This record gives sequence, C-alpha cells and structure tokens, in this order.
Amino acid sequence: MFSLSLLLLCVPLVSSTPHMHKHYVRVDTAPLSGQYDSVNVGQYSLLNNLWGENGAASGSQTSQITSMKGSTIAWKTNWTWTGGNGVKSFANIQLNTGINQQLSTISNMPSTWHWSQSNTGAVVADVAYDLFTSDTPGGSNTNEIMIWLANVNSGPISAQYNAAGHAVPISKNISIEGHKWNLYSGSNGYNQVYSFLLTSGTVKSFQGDIYPFLSHLIDNEGMSTSQYLTTAQAGTEATSGKAKFTTSAYSLTIN
Ligand SMILES: *[C@@H]1O[C@H](CO)[C@@H](O)[C@H](O)[C@H]1NC(C)=O
Ligand SMILES: *[C@@H]1O[C@H](CO)[C@@H](O)[C@H](O)[C@H]1NC(C)=O
Repeated sequence: MFSLSLLLLCVPLVSSTPHMHKHYVRVDTAPLSGQYDSVNVGQYSLLNNLWGENGAASGSQTSQITSMKGSTIAWKTNWTWTGGNGVKSFANIQLNTGINQQLSTISNMPSTWHWSQSNTGAVVADVAYDLFTSDTPGGSNTNEIMIWLANVNSGPISAQYNAAGHAVPISKNISIEGHKWNLYSGSNGYNQVYSFLLTSGTVKSFQGDIYPFLSHLIDNEGMSTSQYLTTAQAGTEATSGKAKFTTSAYSLTIN
C-alpha cells in the first residue's frame, strides 16, 4: 500500500515528457474489443459498445483512445459485421461531466468533431451524436436525439415511410449551426427517437453548438425543458460491412 500510494502521488496528471506538448494528458491507449469494454479519460469515457453483436452472423470491433489534449480527445475504431439487419455496435465517446441537468438549465453545448471513416465494400452505418433525456436524473430514457453527420446507406427510425419505403421527415430544411437538416421521429419500442439528418452530404468537421437541436425540439415538438439530459455520446454506429473510423479531435462541453 505504501509504495502504491507513493506511486499515485508521484504520477503527474500532465505529461512532463519534454518533446510532448505540456497539455497532452496521459491516457490509456489499450485497444478495447469486448462487448461493453470502456475506459475513462478525463471527463469522457470511450465505450466500445457492441450492443447488437448477437444479431450478427460474425464480426468484431476494436476501439482505442489515441490522445487527449485539454478537453479534446482523439480515438479510433475499426469494425466488421456480416448478417442481420439491425445495428451491431456504437463505438462512442461519452461525456460524463455536466450531464443529468434539466434542459432548462443548459445554455449551450459547444462541440468540435473532426472525423473520417474509410468504408470497405458495402457498408450500412452512420456517424452521429446520440443524446438521451429522461423524466428524472439518471432515469429511464424518454427521448433519444440523434444528430447524423453521415448516413451511409442507412436511415433513421421513423413512424412514417413513403411508398418507396423511405422514411418521411416530420420537418424539412431546418437550418441549425450552418447546415440544413430533415427531422425524423418515431419510436424504437422503448423511447421516442428524434433524428436530425443532413439534407445532403456529410459533415466531417463539425464545429458548433449542439444545444440548438434540443431547442428546436423544445420550441417545435413539445419536448419539455424539465427533461434531464442523461446521456451525451458521439460515434460510429455500425449495421454491416467493414470500416475504419478515426476521430482526430472531439470535444463536448455542457454549459
Ligand atoms: C482492428 O485493428 C486491430 C489492431 O490493429 C486488429 O487486430 C483487428 O483485427 C482489426 N479489426 C477489424 C475488425 O478490422
Ligand atoms: C430546401 O432548401 C433548398 C435550398 O435552400 C430548396 O431548394 C428546397 O426546395 C427546400 N426544400 C423544401 C422541402 O423546402
């Protein structure tokens, strides 16, 4: 115990290695491959999260932190999945600081996200922020709010589909943080899901405030400001195919 305590006292929170920038934080860069493997890094956790892997004929996913500097984290994930129609995994960075506040008490949620994903063959996936709200702090999910920065042959949960089988938005061409979005709504069997999808293209460098997406739902879709924001995650949601996902810089703060 003596030596362990001494060791902990002596480990600097900030690297003192001369060639490194002084604000780089020492992080656990071990690869995670287990279904619910996770690692905590500062205010974040990296969650490997293969929640739907049992729906796959075969596959795997490995995630690891690559760096942390101030509140900006970098990570990478690779995955390969065959079989099944549902989502297999959502490797993500979860914010652990500032959550479980009521929406009425949140002013803004600034975020930066620079990412890339190289897909091999036929891929079904998305890259998204995934937020949840509840009636109580830490309670069961009432609303899920997804903000898709990429849609790779996938589609949102929707209560309505057209004759061609495409999800029908409840609201179109919404301007938020410099981009245009269509909003979809439906139930996943457990909670209401609101999904903001870009009207076209992909955003690989997001710089802006996430809170206006919640404001839009408060102002237009009757979401209550007394809801608690219980979860704030961002990552690569995989249904099938093979991909390498890299985030060079991600940050999210709740103010
Ligand atoms: C992901 O990368 C790790 C380490 O390089 C490798 O062992 C693993 O096979 C890769 N997995 C996939 C699904 O590409
Ligand atoms: C959405 O905006 C674009 C360009 O601003 C416009 O061309 C298009 O007609 C709009 N669509 C709808 C459904 O309003």
